[in-house]
Amino acid sequence: MSTVIAAIDQGTTSSRCMLFDRQGRTLSLAQREHQQTFPRPGWVQHDADEIWRHVRRLVPEALDQAGVGVRDVAALGIANQRETTVVWDRTSGRSLGPAITWQDTRTADIVAELVARGEDERIVEITGLPPHTYFAGPRLRWLLDRRPGLRERAADGEVLFGTMESWLIWNLTGGVDGGVHVTDVTNASRTMLMDLTTCTWSETMLDLLDVPRAVLPTIRPSGEVYGTCVGDLAGVPIAGAIGDQQAALFGQTCFTPGDAKCTYGTGAFLLVNAGTERPRPERTVLPTVAFALGDDAPVYAVEGSIAMTGSLVQWLRDSLEIIETAPQVETLARSVDDNGGCYIVPAFSGLFAPRWDPDARGTIVGLTSYIRKGHIARAALEATAWQTWEVVEAIRHDVGLDLQSLRVDGGMTSNHLLMQHVADVLDVPVERPLVSETVCLGAAYVAGLTVGYWADLSTLAHHRHRAAVWRPRMDPAVRAHESSQWNRAVEHALGWVS
Ligand code: G3P
Repeated sequence: MSTVIAAIDQGTTSSRCMLFDRQGRTLSLAQREHQQTFPRPGWVQHDADEIWRHVRRLVPEALDQAGVGVRDVAALGIANQRETTVVWDRTSGRSLGPAITWQDTRTADIVAELVARGEDERIVEITGLPPHTYFAGPRLRWLLDRRPGLRERAADGEVLFGTMESWLIWNLTGGVDGGVHVTDVTNASRTMLMDLTTCTWSETMLDLLDVPRAVLPTIRPSGEVYGTCVGDLAGVPIAGAIGDQQAALFGQTCFTPGDAKCTYGTGAFLLVNAGTERPRPERTVLPTVAFALGDDAPVYAVEGSIAMTGSLVQWLRDSLEIIETAPQVETLARSVDDNGGCYIVPAFSGLFAPRWDPDARGTIVGLTSYIRKGHIARAALEATAWQTWEVVEAIRHDVGLDLQSLRVDGGMTSNHLLMQHVADVLDVPVERPLVSETVCLGAAYVAGLTVGYWADLSTLAHHRHRAAVWRPRMDPAVRAHESSQWNRAVEHALGWVS
């Protein structure tokens, strides 16, 4: 057996490990779900110790499945749910408090205070990010505020902070016995603590959020050997770490400015490669680091994060009970010819890009006695397509990047009606790759490039095979009418809480 690359995807609902061969083909997949805890409305947390226990077993499981040994692993790459925040005790190796996830809104007061103090412009200028509960920095502050004495211990270097890749790398490289405390630059760019131009921690942001510098990991490129695993994986170099959405961009081989991908899961994340100059969009879509390989200049992306797409289908299944399984939404939507004039704006917990309105709430407009559940199913799918369209319009308008096509991945891409509608409203072809596990693939690619397993980006681009393409076929007049109806529907959802 020739050597393989192992990749971990530490995601919101589960962790998985996959092995890939030199052609980028999948050899095995091991997966474990972890607990989601919702102690109060808006709070969503994980147990970081449980996640580490899962991850340390996943890699040996994936090796067993593929019939290979630790010595066959040329390198390990890690992709992770971003913005999820953990602090831990350097001496005991245990997490201190919950891992607070990216969906959690408990930091709303911290964020509101920053805005009330008139700091938002400065924060956007430094970090590229609007003050929002989405990002990790306010969560770190919340955790440090929560326990008496924790900030002082953090200042003394006894307590460490990280996003999930940082936590895993520290543990994999030895934990209390000399674990390496690093973060990759793509994850750091989502903390609201990093200067997006210099890719270094911002003293201003540390002051604003009262974060002692000693708690922070060192920011490193996405592709670099951070250290070597100990324990079951002894000797395996950890040669890459990258936020999961950036990993999907990399796994989709979006290496050229303008290349775009969208991952459709519970939410959707559309990223466009924006080249090596920091983009400066108008607070609609987020500038972020796409990847940085070794000493090469970082490559930036702009991102449109959409909070609710697949979870709207889950809501139709679990709360409205108009379908029994998620795939049935397509059959139900096909039972009608169109949306019957009905539009759903799924702002169940506010709207992310491009509106960034935490006070928006979900709405259904255009109801008449004519509307059947098929129309509701159709409107739910169309909502995903129109939210994608809004992000693409913002990227076109604010960044001047025009999409030629969109590469897609994630669970919802098996829905042909939806993918056709995305192609129709964007007016560009939509392509799904053969290897749909683009997050793991991207992490594997970054690690494999770092250790010379793959020669260069063009080698990786040759691995890419399209499994399906949807071409636009919507009449422009229909598109114009439907987009203006969608905008009217969104107006009803905005600012609902206040
Ligand atoms: O920004 C949040 C994102 O990284 C979460 O991704 O796939 O774990 O839900 P996922």
